[in-house]
Amino acid sequence: MRKTIPQITAMKGQEKIAVLTAYTYPLAAIIDEYVDIILVGDSLGMVLYGMDSTLPVSVKMMINHGSAVIRGSNSALVVVDMPFGSYQESPAQSFRNAAKIISQTGCQAVKLEGGVEISESVHLLVNAGIPVMGHIGLKPQSFNTYGGFKVQGKDEDSANKIMEDARALQDAGCFSIVVEGVKESLAKEITQALEIPVIGIGASPDCDGQVLVSEDMLGLAAPNSKSPKFVKKFGSLNEEISAAVKQYARDVKNKTFPTSENCY
Ligand code: KIV
Repeated sequence: MRKTIPQITAMKGQEKIAVLTAYTYPLAAIIDEYVDIILVGDSLGMVLYGMDSTLPVSVKMMINHGSAVIRGSNSALVVVDMPFGSYQESPAQSFRNAAKIISQTGCQAVKLEGGVEISESVHLLVNAGIPVMGHIGLKPQSFNTYGGFKVQGKDEDSANKIMEDARALQDAGCFSIVVEGVKESLAKEITQALEIPVIGIGASPDCDGQVLVSEDMLGLAAPNSKSPKFVKKFGSLNEEISAAVKQYARDVKNKTFPTSENCY
């Protein structure tokens, strides 16, 4: 049985919520039993496709990867990101695309970036039976406005605006929100102020849960890519893959693989 939205909201104050991203069938199958929520993040544009930002990611891409993750998992709640341009135009546009994502993937919820300005859309989706996770603070889809991926809420005005966004999303009916890349004290204040679970990334140990991009925490990234300070590496798959591939190429070249054992 998959975790449900009421089970996730009931975890606030009781148990930390563990969230990781997955974009593919095998990774979803591996992480499913350990995490509460699998997020099919639009970070897949950068992590899997090598794009410079998440902006070129399409609804079709999210549906393809969301469906694969649903096929690979059966216990975690699965949330799929709504990509840039699929919800900002109007509540009607957000409903059309969220309904497509929910019905074509079988995921349990969608995630949208934004605060007060998307609260009408969130309200419409929630009333139509589509659970919504919010995403405030550093919003990667607003990368051009910030001039890069920069910590948000450093001065009083911007911290107040992020708190206002958090409250607006809760009032609009979000079951949870991601708070990314803000000052630790602000993430803590938001967590204390809201009744819904707050999931941090580059935020605070006081958040109700934590999310990371799986490839970041597994140490699986294009060589030379830099990982942000908030990432803790729990594995070093780059090194393991390099060693395995080096050995494979060596065995093929010196004719120790394949042998008769690998033949029919
Ligand atoms: O796209 C994503 O993976 C995300 C998480 C990093 C929160 O939004």
